[in-house]
Order: sequence, then C-alpha cells, then structure tokens
Amino acid sequence: MRIALSAEHFEVLRVRLARAAGLVFDPSRKESMAYSVGERMRATGLRDVASYLVLLDDDAAERQRLLDEVTIQETHFFRNPPQVRALRTHVLPELLRHAEQHGRRLRIWSAGCSTGEEPYSIAMLLRELLPSTGGWDVKVIATDISSRALEAARAGRYGARAVQLASADDLARHFQPAPDGGHEVRPEVRQLVEFRHHNLVTAPVPFAPSERIDLVLCRNVTIYFGRDTTRALMTRLHECLRDGGYLFLGHSETLWQVSEDFRLVALGTGETAAFVYRRLDEPAAERRAVLPDRRTEDEGPPRPAPEQRVKARRAVEPAAPVGIEDVLAQARAALGAGRYAAAAELAAQASAAAPLRAEAFYLRGLALVDAGRDADALVDLRKAVYLLPEMGFAHFLLAGVLGRLGHPSAAAREYAAAADTLGLQPGDATAEELGGRSVSELAQLCRQLERRLVGDVGVG
Ligand SMILES: C[S@@+](CC[C@H](N)C(=O)[O-])C[C@H]1O[C@@H](n2cnc3c(N)ncnc32)[C@H](O)[C@@H]1O
Repeated sequence: MRIALSAEHFEVLRVRLARAAGLVFDPSRKESMAYSVGERMRATGLRDVASYLVLLDDDAAERQRLLDEVTIQETHFFRNPPQVRALRTHVLPELLRHAEQHGRRLRIWSAGCSTGEEPYSIAMLLRELLPSTGGWDVKVIATDISSRALEAARAGRYGARAVQLASADDLARHFQPAPDGGHEVRPEVRQLVEFRHHNLVTAPVPFAPSERIDLVLCRNVTIYFGRDTTRALMTRLHECLRDGGYLFLGHSETLWQVSEDFRLVALGTGETAAFVYRRLDEPAAERRAVLPDRRTEDEGPPRPAPEQRVKARRAVEPAAPVGIEDVLAQARAALGAGRYAAAAELAAQASAAAPLRAEAFYLRGLALVDAGRDADALVDLRKAVYLLPEMGFAHFLLAGVLGRLGHPSAAAREYAAAADTLGLQPGDATAEELGGRSVSELAQLCRQLERRLVGDVGVG
C-alpha cells in the first residue's frame, strides 16, 4: 500500500528501528520505509500512521512483523565466489584439521543468515570434505532477526534464482526436487544447520561464554548499521571467536577504522586471494606492522598526480538519451534484488544505446562480478574506467577482478588508481556501495590492498 510518511513519523520510526535492530534509515530510504509501513498497515487494516504507531507500542508481534518487512533478505547459494573458493580450498580444510586435534568439534556461525542459503552453502562445502560426521560434533549455527526469513530457511526449498551460482554437480549432490518443482536441500546437509532467532545488535552472542567459534560469517549485514553499532558488534564477534578463527564480511564491508582486533589476510594463491579477517591474539602494534609498506623498482615511471591524470583523460559523462536513466535505474534495482543476469542485460541495453556512458559499463561489470563471471566483467570494467578515469568504484572492482584472474601487477595499479580517484571526492562523501560509509575509508583500504599485492608478489 502506498502511503505518505510525514517527516515527524519518519523520525519516530527511524529512531525505533535504530534502537530495535541498529538499522540506519537516512532520508534517502524514506520511500522504502513508507512502503514497508504501508504494507503493514494494509495487513493490519489500519488507515493512518499514527494508529499504526500505537499498535507498534502495544504489540510485540507487530514489531517483529515490521522488522521482517524492513530488513533486506537478499542472498543466494555460494554467494561471493572468491570467498567460496577460499572456504572450499583453504579455510574449511584447515578448520577441520584443527578440529581433528580438538575433540572433532567445529562451530560455524552464519550471523544474519537470511533465508538460509549462506549456512546451507557452508554445510554443503563441509559435506564434501566430511561425507560422514559420525564421531564429529559439527554445527553451523544460523541466526537472523527476521522470523519470516528463518521460517523460509527452515523449510529449505528454493527457486531457480537462489541457486544461480550452484553448478550442476552442486545441484545433483546437495538438492533434491521439491514438490513445487524447486530445489530442496538434502537432509544430510540440513542436519548440520541449526537456525535460531537472534538480534545481533541488542542481544549478547547466542553461545555460552565458554563456547568458542571457529568461523563467523557476517556478510552483508553491517551495511545496514551505523559505524558505532558495527564497532560494538565486531567486539562481540572477536570475543566469541577462538584465536586463529576467521571472520568473513561481505565484499563492500571493511573493518578499516572499525576494529583493530582482526588481521586482514589474503587466502588462496596470492593474487587470486579472497580477503578475509582473522582473530589473532597479538598486540595491535605488531598487527599494524604486518602489511609491508614498500614499493619495488619495476613499478615503472611515477604515476602522475591524480588530478593531472583525470584532467588528461577526463571524459565528461555525456548527457544520456531519454530513457537511458530509466534503464540504468532498472539495472540498479535488479542488482539490489540480486537479479544479476537481468541487471547485466539491462546495463548492456543501456551501454548499446549510450556507448559513452561509463556507468552502464560499470553496472554491467558489477552485475557480472556478483554473478561470479570475472572474465566477462573485465571487458566492461575496463571500458568504464577508460570512459571515466575518475570512477573510483570501477577501478576498485577492476582491481579485484584482475587479482582473481591472475594479474597482480595490474590489480595493484588499479587499487592505486581507485585510491587516487576515490581520494578526489570530498573526504566525508559517502557511498551507497559501502552502505553509506565514507569514501575515504575505501580509498585507504585500496592503498592497503595495493601494498599487500606489491608486498606479496614483488611487483608494482
Ligand atoms: C542481505 S541479508 C545477508 C544474508 C547473507 N549473510 C548473505 O550475505 O547472503 C542481511 C540479513 O541481516 C539480517 N539482519 C539485519 N539486522 C539484523 C540484526 N540486528 N540482527 C540480526 N540480523 C539482522 C536481515 O534480516 C537479513 O536477513
């Protein structure tokens, strides 16, 4: 139901949702909040917002339903292919080796598990490594604030979109046909996963104080939180992880200026690595010394100052033909909804109609990266930065793609370009891609990643 939300009501709801779940609703999300409240008013038969606010005061079940409505459940199986690769080949085998020597006990926490695709994916990877869990105490604890999402998770039945990144082999091995024609997670996978309702912001971690967790996945959850909320959460996650335990965040989430309690590590074979965090009980001063801060001689000639490079190759975004903005908006919406193939197709339409529009290539690149198609994304991202050299996010994405495809020198250069160009924006600018965090934060991260690549492989 479409409703108009007054500034005053928006403020009341904004404060309540921040308190109840840490969710940040800045003015740009007012429409989205109005939609959610409208849906709840339609369901409860109430006709004005003031009455709905009274109901919220009186009725805990309605407060839960509003949370179900406003939280964003976007997820799918095997999300973030570099991380999945790292889990399959590095993290899970290592954790199982560790568990073997520590009572064959393994605890993994999927924090903000949404409708279950993430914890089930982990359980599937575990099953491949450990076909029989007899004699083992292995659990994936999956928690979320949304009761509705947890209900879907427990049902364990999914449509085609959720399994878009699953291979035919994954499908055959870990799913069985569901009565409605969808895909149902097999019992031996479900057996490893335990779902619990839990609020990451207001409740202590859902484990006994003595219980230590080997791996926490808290991906694409903190993008909806403010920095202080994220900081407090990271302290709790640090406390429940065992020394040497891993923390996986989403690809736009960073602990830069949020927590110094974890060390960023590259997993995999150097240049194709996924970047994840690890709990290490060593003093912060030593941790800071971990990243090498050196440049090698084969870096080539010094890069011109960013302003000069931008001026030299500046391609002003040309005015787009009528209709392109709509197509780009649709592509963004499809991306937001996790419909990557549709987003890529829409962005391709936009770039065909406006071949000098960098954003269209960037969006297609982003959709292809999200769909795990790095090689295809490379072409579009290169075009985007050629057309608009100051497009920092495109450089950032391109750097990741180049790294994963085995081109560390080029990746390091793109991280440098990303840092330079993001640095051109006002320091307090915020980025949607970063969940509203500051652009200078991403610029710093890019510097860090550049130095790490240069340090890892000795290239410039
Ligand atoms: C975008 S989904 C991420 C799902 C999965 N981790 C992934 O990366 O695919 C974000 C999830 O965080 C949950 N969430 C938001 N605020 C939360 C809170 N305060 N406590 C627990 N879960 C929360 C939402 O309900 C939603 O299911």
